[in-house]
Amino acid sequence: MAHVLITGGAGFLGSHTCVALLQAGHRLVVLDNFSNSGPEALRRVAALAGLGVGSVDQWPQAGDWRLRLVRGDIRQREDVEAAFRAGEGAIDAVIHFAGLKAVAESVRDPLAYWDVNVGGSRCLLAVMGRLGCRTLVFSSSATLYGFPDSLPIAETAPVRPINPYGNTKAAVEQLLADTAASASGWRIACLRYFNPVGAHPSGRIGEDPSGVPNNLFPFLSQVAVGRRPALQVYGGDWPTVDGTGVRDFIHVMDLAEGHTAALDLLWSEPPQRLTLNLGSGRGHSVLEVVRAFERASGLAVPYVIAERRAGDVASSVADPALAAARMGWHTRRDLDAMCRDGWAWQRANPKGYAP
Ligand code: UD1
Repeated sequence: MAHVLITGGAGFLGSHTCVALLQAGHRLVVLDNFSNSGPEALRRVAALAGLGVGSVDQWPQAGDWRLRLVRGDIRQREDVEAAFRAGEGAIDAVIHFAGLKAVAESVRDPLAYWDVNVGGSRCLLAVMGRLGCRTLVFSSSATLYGFPDSLPIAETAPVRPINPYGNTKAAVEQLLADTAASASGWRIACLRYFNPVGAHPSGRIGEDPSGVPNNLFPFLSQVAVGRRPALQVYGGDWPTVDGTGVRDFIHVMDLAEGHTAALDLLWSEPPQRLTLNLGSGRGHSVLEVVRAFERASGLAVPYVIAERRAGDVASSVADPALAAARMGWHTRRDLDAMCRDGWAWQRANPKGYAP
């Protein structure tokens, strides 16, 4: 059993990764400021893992513990230090999810993105270095590849982000490379996610974006459940199988398991810095996703073909061979499972975590 600090552990990817890590037997400290999430997700994570329902909010608590929550901000040194204290000085690794992730917002407010994503990572790394914790898994993104030259996209493809959000992800990867080169002992994995969707199969936790969802899957789910009238499909004239955008969708539980696999790899090998794609290697078009969602829900999903969205690429598909070779990891859940589990979450929680 290891002690793992999860920044942003209450968010969509963080909460599902917490479930996978608890299942693997680890003790977790979550550091989250709830800027785009809330404690209810963690209460449900605790319940799914068979922990006491009240356990999440009660740090410092006595006796045995598995999941502790520290409300705080990664940009505040004292908050990061408090999270390490909650781990009783025994944090073996950090998984760093906390950050801002909306592309359009990053164009409007780049300073916020550099502040939280880059400044926050800098603060976290400084505390880690000082406290002697040198194992880190970083939440990176396929957005780094910008407009790819060819498909599928391997990790060796050029890093050419096309918006401020992507620039900050690239900057943090560079910061991690410089940090790993500056001192021995760092074990770092940058995981470049393709398009994580779906939910835990229980339907108890899932994606709960605030406001109007930017991304396809949560928007589609909200149309199906009747919260929004119709999906706008951004472009019907892309050079793809049916004219709509093609993406490599990955079930969030496959992604979560990618993190436990990355930790196992970092702990079992000498110090190193790794960069790995997390994707399935299969592309699905927007209309294929709509059809799969209709099959899973038994409902018709109204949609209209609209203008292309600025900054979109026609197709994005991972070459996941390196993750398979290095970690023995590959996706196990297909598009139908993503839609089934995503629909189970949306149907049972039409307003997300809101009561
Ligand atoms: C987007 C971001 C990416 C980020 C990722 C995760 C952009 C350009 N890219 O990826 O940087 O890492 O989210 O937050 O914003 N679509 C529709 N209708 C919708 C929404 C989406 O047709 O209402 C289409 C898009 O045009 C695209 C596909 O669905 O073809 C997937 O879109 P989305 O879910 O937003 O993901 P990405 O754009 O791939």
